[in-house]
Parts: sequence; structure tokens; C-alpha cells
Amino acid sequence: MTYTIGYIVGSISSTSLNRRLATALAKLAPADVELVEIAIKDLPFYSPDHDADYPQVARDFKKAIADVDGVIIVTPEYSRSIPGVLKNALDWAARPYGQGSFDGKPTAVIGTSGGAISTAAAQQHLKAILSHYNAPTLGQPEGYIQATPGLFGEDGTVSNEGTAAFLRVYLDAFVQLIDRYVDVTAKRESAAA
Ligand SMILES: Cc1cc2nc3c(=O)[nH]c(=O)nc-3n(C[C@H](O)[C@H](O)[C@H](O)COP(=O)(O)O)c2cc1C
Repeated sequence: MTYTIGYIVGSISSTSLNRRLATALAKLAPADVELVEIAIKDLPFYSPDHDADYPQVARDFKKAIADVDGVIIVTPEYSRSIPGVLKNALDWAARPYGQGSFDGKPTAVIGTSGGAISTAAAQQHLKAILSHYNAPTLGQPEGYIQATPGLFGEDGTVSNEGTAAFLRVYLDAFVQLIDRYVDVTAKRESAAA
């Protein structure tokens, strides 16, 4: 199977380490997997006032999620949780009521920070949100990447071969999760036909 996986970077920093990690994942992906960015930086603040008529940028954001086979959320940890910009994007994805973009969408989370426990606390919060959204979420391996100086280049190079090997294993595991989901969906559809 050939898959398109969207990635969301939970940082809008111009020097984001997590963007570098996302670029590394895109570079390390297997030949039959394409990674494309689903951008969040132009989304305004979500309000239920928009539910009756989403702005085009939010429609495009939801369509971008609908168009991919799975989503990887690559996020920093802010104050032991996820950054506000990411939560805002997730709120747009969750609504209008009954039209949640992550319902049934295979999703994986990963992130990097300099801290010894990396982004573990943020990822636990994020996984709780994704569970509420009914997203089949990659449980293992867990992607807690401790950033060291020079680990990720701007062009997606990874200076430590052990980290690069881990990222390949992580991507393979996520592809297997998507495979399982696609198989089950196909079986259900053929049983219903
Ligand atoms: C508001 C704020 C809160 C932060 N809180 C945490 C935290 O709870 N845990 C952590 O490991 N790093 C924390 N950091 C440091 C970030 O991990 C670090 O800035 C990282 O480079 C952010 O990711 P980015 O480079 O992709 O934007 C925080 C940074 C900021 C700006």
C-alpha cells in the first residue's frame, strides 16, 4: 500500500526543533510513504461562533486531515502540556459537533525537547484528547526524543544513527497501525456490500 501521512507541527517558532524532527521523519519515511505538512499557523482562535460557517482556512485544515491516511503530531511540551496553538488547531478539528476530523483517523504523536523526560507529559495529555476524539492512536513505540545540540539539522539530517534507527522503527510501527485500520475498514465495507 502507498500511504500519505499528514504531519502537524505543534510549534510556530521560526527555530522549532520539532519542525526539524518532522523534516527528519519525512526524510526517513519508507519509499511508499509520503509525508505532507498540515499547517496550523494561519488558523484564527476557534470559537463556536464559527460552527455555522467555518472560515476557508479552517475548512482547508479539516479537508487536509480528511485527505490523508494518518496523521503524526510532532509537538513540543509547554508547561507540561501541549502548546496553545496546537490545542486551538485540535479544537477546530473537533467541530462542528459530529464532524470530528480525528474520528477513526490513525494518529501518532512524537516530540522533542531538551528535558530528560522530553515531551512525555505533553504526549499523555495529547493522547487523552485523541482518545476522546476516537482516533486509533499508536501506543508503541513512544516517541520521547531528548534533543541534544546538533541532533537535528534544518534539512532533516539526524546526526545520531541510533535516533535515526528509532525514527525508522517508529514510522514502520505507524504504517502497520494504518495497515490494520485499512484492512478492518475494507472487511467491514465488503461485508456490508
Ligand atoms: C512557554 C514554554 C513552556 C515550556 N515548557 C516546557 C515543558 O514543560 N517541558 C519541556 O521539556 N520543555 C519546555 N519548554 C522548552 C521547550 O521544550 C523548548 O523551547 C523547545 O525548543 C520547544 O520546541 P520547538 O523548538 O519545536 O518550538 C517550554 C518552552 C516554552 C516557550
